[in-house]
Formats: sequence, C-alpha cells, structure tokens
Amino acid sequence: MKQKVAVLGAGSWGNTLAILLASKYTVTMWEFDAKVAELLNTEKENKKFLPGIRFPDNFTVTNDLGSAIKNAYLIIFAVPSFAIRSLSVNAAQFINNTQIIVSVTKGIEDGTFMRMTEIIDSVVPHKKGVVALSGPTHAEEVSKKVPSTIVAACKDISVAEEVQKAFMTEYLRVYTNEDIIGVEIGAAVKNVIAIIAGISDGIGFGDNTKAALMTRGMAEIIRLGKKAGANEKTFSGLAGMGDLIVTCCSKHSRNRHVGELLGKGQKIDEITSSMAMVAEGVKNCKSIKNFADKLSVEMPLTEELYKIIYENDSIMDSLKRLFSRKEKHEHWE
Ligand SMILES: NC(=O)c1ccc[n+]([C@@H]2O[C@H](COP(=O)([O-])OP(=O)(O)OC[C@H]3O[C@@H](n4cnc5c(N)ncnc54)[C@H](O)[C@@H]3O)[C@@H](O)[C@H]2O)c1
Repeated sequence: MKQKVAVLGAGSWGNTLAILLASKYTVTMWEFDAKVAELLNTEKENKKFLPGIRFPDNFTVTNDLGSAIKNAYLIIFAVPSFAIRSLSVNAAQFINNTQIIVSVTKGIEDGTFMRMTEIIDSVVPHKKGVVALSGPTHAEEVSKKVPSTIVAACKDISVAEEVQKAFMTEYLRVYTNEDIIGVEIGAAVKNVIAIIAGISDGIGFGDNTKAALMTRGMAEIIRLGKKAGANEKTFSGLAGMGDLIVTCCSKHSRNRHVGELLGKGQKIDEITSSMAMVAEGVKNCKSIKNFADKLSVEMPLTEELYKIIYENDSIMDSLKRLFSRKEKHEHWE
C-alpha cells in the first residue's frame, strides 16, 4: 500500500502537484467548494485549470478537510495567499506531529507581514515541520512534464530533504535550502516585479527596459530580503533569479499578463474580474509596500506599482518619477 499525501487546493498548481505526487503516493486533493469537488471526482479531470490531463487511479478529490488530512504523510498547502490563514485555522485540528506541511503559496500577509509558512507555523501547533517549495515552475509546463527545477526550504534541513525526495521525478529536480525567509521573500516579491515587467511589454517598450526592470527589481528583492533576515545568496538561486526570470518573461505568467493589460490601458478592476486564476502580485504589491515601509526599505518600483494599482496614478507619471530619482551607485542598502 502506497503512503498517502494530501494536497489542499485544487487550482492549477495544487492539481499539478497532486498529479505529480500520484506517481509515488496515494493522493487526496481537497477542494474548498463542495460542488467543484464532486464535479472533479466525476469528470476525473480539472477542465477549468488543467484541461486535457486525466486524474490517475490512485487519486480522489474531497471537500472534507479532515478525511483529506487523516493519515497523510505530507500535507501540501496550495491555496491563494488570501486563504492560507483560514485554511490553517480549519486544518490545525486534524494535523499531528508526524505530518510534514509544505507551502507552495506565494505571498506576504498584509498587516502582520508574515510569510506563508510563518502563518501556518503560528496556527498549526502539532506538525513535524513546515517547508516552502518554490521556484520557476509554471503549472502549464510541469503538468506536461517539461523539465523544471524547484527548491525545498526549511530551517531543519532534514525535513527539507524529505520533501526533496518526495517531489523528485524524472522531470522535476528539487534542491534544498535552509534559508526559508529568502525563498519566501523571493517568491512573493517577484510577482510584483512581473506586473511591472508586463506593463513595459504592454506599452511596447523594449528588451532594455525589461532587463532594467528585472535587474532593479532584483535589487529591491535583495534589499527587502536582507532586512527581513534572508541570506543574499538565496536570491541568485531558483526561488530568486530563477523565478523572477520565468515570471517576468513567460507567456504563462498571470502577473506579467496583468501588467501587460495595465500597460495597454485597461483598469485593474476590469483585469482582475475577468481572470479565473489568482495573480498574487496584485494583493501582494500592497502588503510588500507596507512591509517595506515598516522596515524602512526603499523599493521604488514596488512603490510606483502601488500608486498605479491602488491610487489610480498614471503609468507615465510613474516612469517620470523613476527616471528623475536622485543619482545612485548601483549597489546601495
Ligand atoms: N499556477 C502556478 O503555476 C503556480 C506555480 C507555483 C506557485 N503557485 C502559487 O500557488 C498558489 C495557488 O495558485 P494556483 O495557481 O493553484 O491558483 P488558482 O488560481 O489556479 O486556483 C486557486 C484555487 O484556490 C481555491 N480557492 C479560492 N478561494 C479559496 C478559499 N477561500 N479557501 C480555499 N481555497 C480557495 C480555488 O477553488 C482554486 O482551487 C498561489 O500562491 C500561486 O502563486 C502557482
């Protein structure tokens, strides 16, 4: 009998990872909407998020959180960042200290400025450990077995290594890192930078602009990360540079897509209301801007995106402000 894993969240990433894990484990995927759970079980396919990919035999979908978590060796949290706290509160009663929790969610909670694994850790008292799994991995490609890489981060490296073994397949190579702060900050902030890169695409600026935005975006990620306690080296890794490249350049990136539409003149509300999937950079632009203010970290690109999204400021005014900033050395704290 294969060991069981639970995947909490049946969106594109949760469902992709659930199918990947089903090559080694018996998988139960939890979906918060009971009707959707029933439909997924009947159709044996996620027509909304992963059309054309059949669920394997050892794979069930449920809306019952307790039964999903019971006897699971690994519990993967794969819901959008706005739902992580409520899911943690609801799941805590079912989790015990032999179970490993993995978060694949990318974001910083506004107000508390907690990373996703910090929220889970603070709400779920009994568990073996919490791991952040993050990197340049679009569901659209991993679900088609396109060779990809990712990093499993945990202060306790032995727990990260267990997760590494669980997720390793012939098309997904998993690395480990102790720097969970750096991995989660990189994961959250790159979505904000990707919206800005998308704006540049939407306006029709060139490769020079995109390269500048990605590089100066990375400078912002590093400044915030170091102040929050991360190791700078992490940002040249998969959860830093790797994820920034894919999110700013890929046709699959929802955050880049949001930016592209903003650059073409659409309003943020029309863009988000027309999207089925979550673009974490929109909400996280606000939490990251507020977090940076709290830590007194300068993040000019993030600040300008905040003005565009939340204060309806003009993109061209933002550009003028960015180009009239005081002269700087390339590297400053
Ligand atoms: N899609 C990717 O390629 C990818 C890759 C890596 C990481 N991620 C991250 O994984 C997380 C989930 O992304 P996704 O792409 O699977 O999202 P998605 O937009 O495809 O799906 C979101 C899922 O969350 C569910 N949901 C909505 N509201 C909920 C609530 N209140 N409580 C519980 N569940 C709720 C929806 O039913 C849906 O199943 C995000 O943080 C994202 O950044 C995504």
